[in-house]
Amino acid sequence: MLALIRICHGIKLYLGDFMKLYESLAETLREHIEQGFYQVGDKLPSVRRLSAEHKVSLATAQQALWLLEQQHWVEVKAKSGFYVKARQSAPPIPQISRLTQYPLEVSQWDEVLDLLSCRERNILNLGRGLCDVTAPTLKPILRLLSDSIKSRGQQLLAYDSLAGQIALREQIARLGVASGTHVQAQDLIITTGCQEALSISIQAVTKPGDIIAIESPCFYGVMQILNAHGIKALEIPSHPTHGMSIEALEMALDQWPIRAIMVIPAFSNPLGSCMPDANKQRLLQLAQHYDVPIIEDDIYGELAYKQPRPRTIQSFDQEGRVILCSSFTKTVAVGLRVGWIVPGRYRNRILHLKYISTASAVSITQLVLADFIEQGYYERHLRKIRQQYQIGRDSIIRLIEESFPESVRVSFPEGGFVIWIEFPNDFDTVQLDKRMMQHHIKIPAGSVFSASGKYRNCTRINYSRAALDEKIRDAIRLVGQEAKQLIMDTQNQK
Ligand SMILES: Cc1ncc(COP(=O)(O)O)c(C=O)c1O
Repeated sequence: MLALIRICHGIKLYLGDFMKLYESLAETLREHIEQGFYQVGDKLPSVRRLSAEHKVSLATAQQALWLLEQQHWVEVKAKSGFYVKARQSAPPIPQISRLTQYPLEVSQWDEVLDLLSCRERNILNLGRGLCDVTAPTLKPILRLLSDSIKSRGQQLLAYDSLAGQIALREQIARLGVASGTHVQAQDLIITTGCQEALSISIQAVTKPGDIIAIESPCFYGVMQILNAHGIKALEIPSHPTHGMSIEALEMALDQWPIRAIMVIPAFSNPLGSCMPDANKQRLLQLAQHYDVPIIEDDIYGELAYKQPRPRTIQSFDQEGRVILCSSFTKTVAVGLRVGWIVPGRYRNRILHLKYISTASAVSITQLVLADFIEQGYYERHLRKIRQQYQIGRDSIIRLIEESFPESVRVSFPEGGFVIWIEFPNDFDTVQLDKRMMQHHIKIPAGSVFSASGKYRNCTRINYSRAALDEKIRDAIRLVGQEAKQLIMDTQNQK
């Protein structure tokens, strides 16, 4: 039994021989690398300094560094010391799926509801799409909320205007410059989250029985909108790095009366792919040629690890064909429920649908977000959180390399905080999920991201706190162990 006796200068000292002292020190240093205290190219403290700071012998400090070297975390530079190493190897990326032959009706509400209700059931959902709401850079939001109640008082109890608070719309229009999005504050429409934005936009350009082209795999929230409105999904294969296949889309547009194209070009959910600008322009040309609107979901766009962030498809659009949807759910906090639509030529219809959906949105969260952005807190928060998520991505990939079956493939997002994991073709994530549920941990079966039930061998995992939270790291390791065991059990049964 592991007994923690004390924490000394950040090193965990354990009774018994479960973990040797040099291993504990190596573990501590590894955590520091993952949390970004030491970045790629940084020099680690010398053997002598480690020994003094952590009160261990020189031999223990030396062994800890050698262990990190063996594990490829650091490299030795002759006569200089140990330096944090860039990631050399990564598992291969997932394969692109085949074109689905027919448009399909979407079902799977029960599976989605099961995922959405994990929190109430005290289940740790590793696949959730939540950003890190514990980030210290979000603290000003809470202060601004209480200031706002004091200063604005009864004003907050009135109906908001149908299009939303102008102060926030002005800030969003200003932020749009970074992605090339052209929009005036007067045209923007505030919604209750991006889910409402997508739902209204889809309804604005389709009617029941129509076909929409969607990415495959696709965010299940989009598919449930199609389900609710009797719209069929035509799944277009998407590449883990470049997003929706333009060639496959062209073939589909040629063959089917597609009424709209729905796409998440910047760090799609669940693949994390980012569509190159040339593909965005080609997609827009196709939409023009076949005269269909594009619904663009940019909810992860601001979370690009490298700046400048990617351009939106809307930024290339001169005729209001693109309806751009987004929210502050992934960048700030899910609970604020503030999203928006840049409605292009569909403004009137969208405003009407918003009225019949929720009428006006809640004012206080909009006003607080406007203050948060205006006072510079939003930019500061984004700078920090993008770094945290990039470290989280590298950290989860290392964890997967260490503890998952060797045969897995994983995506390599350059923004956002979800990763797509592909097991071999005959692997069943529904079975894996059942095993994980015995530990009160949930992983989504990949089939929930497809109208045709593809991707049963895949899953999506959130890494927003993968470098910071040992409970989450342990849960991810456990997924790897159970996956290995499942593979062995399946082989034994053959
Ligand atoms: C791609 C994508 N679009 C839209 C949404 C819904 O966003 P909101 O919570 O702002 O309604 C999500 C949430 O997970 C998402 O991942």
